[in-house]
Amino acid sequence: MNIEAVLKDPQAMYNVDSMNMFRALWGLPEQCADAWRLGTQGPLPVAGAISNVLVTGLGGSAIGGDLLRVYSAGKMAVPVAVNRDYVLPAYVDRSTLVFVVSYSGNTEETLSAYEEARNRGCPIVALTTGGKLKELADRDGVPVITVPGGLAPRAATGYLFIPTLAVLERLGLLSGLEAEVRELVEHLEEIRENLKPEASLEDNLAKQLARDFYNRIPVIWGGSGTTGVVAQRFKGQINENAKAPAYWNVFPELNHNELVGFEVPKELLEKLYVVILKDEEDHPRVKIRMEITRGIVAKAVSGVTEIKSSGQGVLARMYSLIYVGDYASVYLAALYGIDPGPVRIIDYLKAELAGR
Ligand code: PA5
Repeated sequence: MNIEAVLKDPQAMYNVDSMNMFRALWGLPEQCADAWRLGTQGPLPVAGAISNVLVTGLGGSAIGGDLLRVYSAGKMAVPVAVNRDYVLPAYVDRSTLVFVVSYSGNTEETLSAYEEARNRGCPIVALTTGGKLKELADRDGVPVITVPGGLAPRAATGYLFIPTLAVLERLGLLSGLEAEVRELVEHLEEIRENLKPEASLEDNLAKQLARDFYNRIPVIWGGSGTTGVVAQRFKGQINENAKAPAYWNVFPELNHNELVGFEVPKELLEKLYVVILKDEEDHPRVKIRMEITRGIVAKAVSGVTEIKSSGQGVLARMYSLIYVGDYASVYLAALYGIDPGPVRIIDYLKAELAGR
């Protein structure tokens, strides 16, 4: 396999991309701008005092909840939790603002969580392209933010996350978002020039990562602030786009368990490739931990790369890393000769479940 030849041939990559994942990636800045616009429109749920926020969804529709959780942790007076289940935690009640998120609108766990939230009298906002969720929400008079269809759910992270910020700002729980989203959009427009298929391997960090990941197992580590969630996103994108295994973890927790497991079996450890995601707001002690940890694992694994977020605001910095990971995962798919869009295993599982 000539890795460089594959990564130099955008047309060949487009040819195996049946769901236009590359086009969706290129359009992420425009998607974020449009998502903000959608979130600022339409009715809000009737709510009394909100004591906590819950995002319920699965897979590509849930990760936006985690982004919201870490984004708002240092800015919002009430906590955000993410629920990836049929059932809701016992504390969820009328004071819980619930975002029910499903790109297709047909994910059974999410529909079940929606019914529970309704039964408990929660203020709800549904975020979807349509499907059963929209049908139920319209029936119940629940506000729906309808986002455009035609994307893979994981390629719609802007649509499935940014509107929640707009709603929280409209409800008076967050502020200053409009300027931050504008900065996010401008920053993504700038960095995509070096991430697109036409950019050379020398300039393109995402291509370099795909080259390093090829025939290896990526292990992505982030910090306890915002980058841990991005590490999770990297991992999920490699799984779903490249159809390959990947693992993630977070500092400082990984220093207390995972790091100990880098002694044996040596032949397998040599197959790992570690990426450490960094951000200027990482806790100072975490920064030191990352440095020491790198020194420890470098001897055991095939390589370690550190990637630092770029941009000013938290949103731009989070997405600067997400963008690299998203692109790297589709380049890795190209190296394996895999169509990044379809997720046949998930479709199969959903179909099997529907029949039982
Ligand atoms: O990215 C994907 O395709 C999946 O992770 C889906 O998001 C997940 O299966 C849930 O489906 P939906 O987003 O339609 O609720």
